[in-house]
Amino acid sequence: MLILAGTTEARLLAGLCADRGIDAEVSLAGLVPGTDYPLPVRTGGFGGAEGLVRYLSARGTAGLVDATHPFAAAMPRHAARAATAADVPHAMLKRPPWLPGPDEDWLELSDLAAAAAALPPGARAFLAIGAGSLGAFAARRDCRLVLRQMTAPRELPAHVEALVARPGDRAAERALFRRLGITHLVAKNSGGPARAKLDAARDLGLPVLMVARPVLPPGRLFAAPGAVLDWIEGLA
Ligand SMILES: NC(=O)c1ccc[n+]([C@@H]2O[C@H](COP(=O)([O-])OP(=O)(O)OC[C@H]3O[C@@H](n4cnc5c(N)ncnc54)[C@H](OP(=O)(O)O)[C@@H]3O)[C@@H](O)[C@H]2O)c1
Repeated sequence: MLILAGTTEARLLAGLCADRGIDAEVSLAGLVPGTDYPLPVRTGGFGGAEGLVRYLSARGTAGLVDATHPFAAAMPRHAARAATAADVPHAMLKRPPWLPGPDEDWLELSDLAAAAAALPPGARAFLAIGAGSLGAFAARRDCRLVLRQMTAPRELPAHVEALVARPGDRAAERALFRRLGITHLVAKNSGGPARAKLDAARDLGLPVLMVARPVLPPGRLFAAPGAVLDWIEGLA
């Protein structure tokens, strides 16, 4: 098996495969260290879908699991194409997206550019999006933006303020938004446990601009690592 990783779910699946003695390898793009996987790890791109076809064929891979991040744009398409071309069974493991509760005020947007365009002039927006996604907000100099980062960013435009901090729980996020005078929350719909910011926005009645995930290629889609393990065991 080849597991395209970079997520908590991929790590959980790797753990399940290791426990069952499944012959599997983890693949990482190389952005984060691959030290906490209980399986062999390879690192770096394959050279597009064609490179992945060559890799799958050379290794005699029996199944390919795309467990990359829900906002990974290229790899899911490459994986689906390569699996078809190499005639390798293929599945995707993606954590479910967040859904708004009945009392949540979300504006759902197709991409970051649409989210940037939807901010009203003068907004004081909290960007829960990652520095790599900041380019979409370059033209919104009429807004004051706060970007939260785990580590200090290199350089930011004048209208973007850096906040070096980890996400907190609901009460901490609420206090933070109050202290910063936040009027809007911009988030990518990654899903998973980091929902405190959304709960805090709901508590404060802040509008949420929720960026939808890139569309996945057609194929077998699982939400839980255990379900993928069942699929893998069914291939044998
Ligand atoms: N985008 C996010 O918000 C986000 C957040 C957390 C983690 N990640 C993780 O970071 C990685 C890169 O993210 P991205 O947004 O740049 O994704 P991407 O647009 O899908 O990937 C860009 C290129 O990076 C290589 N790549 C991506 N994932 C790989 C993997 N697991 N193993 C080997 N090569 C891989 C591929 O290069 P080749 O074409 O040369 O094969 C791919 O074309 C992904 O694995 C993803 O799971 C992304």
